[in-house]
Amino acid sequence: MISKEDAEILKQLSAEHGLKFISGKFSQGVVFSTSLGQEDQVVTDMIFRNQLPIKVFTLDTGRLFYEHYDLLSKNNSRYKTKTEVYFPEASDVEQYVNEKGINAFYHSVENRKECCFIRKVKPLNRALENAQIWITGLRSDQSENRENMPIIEWDEDRKLFKYNPLINWSYQEVLNYLEQNNVQELALHKKGFISVGCQPCTRAIEEGENPRAGRWWWESSQKECGLHSH
Ligand code: ADX
Ligand code: SF4
Repeated sequence: MISKEDAEILKQLSAEHGLKFISGKFSQGVVFSTSLGQEDQVVTDMIFRNQLPIKVFTLDTGRLFYEHYDLLSKNNSRYKTKTEVYFPEASDVEQYVNEKGINAFYHSVENRKECCFIRKVKPLNRALENAQIWITGLRSDQSENRENMPIIEWDEDRKLFKYNPLINWSYQEVLNYLEQNNVQELALHKKGFISVGCQPCTRAIEEGENPRAGRWWWESSQKECGLHSH
């Protein structure tokens, strides 16, 4: 249980000290979801370098870029540890694809959200079973939906605390950390990609565009997949 006092302490601590504090308080049940994006590589580096007792996992939707697998493999070699991989239920994917089509997410927002639900949200919920603290790499200036997210909050639907250690970091701070600590990142970032999701649903962005403009670029929806909004 995170008390009000703990929450106050977390607000004062740096991300790295916060991760140490929270994993020191709970020897089990602290988990971190990584998309292998830049923010998540910062948190991954902090966790593995300090050998914190935190389960690190990623959701393999089956539609990721080659670069995701390359980085996953490099992380495992560099930190001599393993990021756990969760897959969607085969029967869910088969039914969706065979009924609606292999790229049905382009046809409607409803189809897109269903694909995200099957390939991301359901596996996430499975990965979070028995977790008490869920750590993410969310930052508040990524989108309107994330603007007012606190550093630590109770997730009533999932019945756990969600801890966002980088919530107040700027993008520049993320880049500085990666450079100063020589952290490897997705090769895609050098090719104009900032926010990266599944391959068919992400494109590179132009200078001056919103960093999330390349996600589900054909939609004018809220551009969230349901991991962090309902
Ligand atoms: S998304 O909701 O638009 O897909 P985004 O890519 O910004 O999310 O990542 C925000 C946070 O969601 C990440 O820091 C990570 O904790 C989690 N996340 C997103 N995608 C994945 C994934 N494929 N596997 C694990 N965690 C993920
Ligand atoms: Fe499906 Fe695209 Fe969502 Fe990935 S991002 S789960 S391919 S709709």
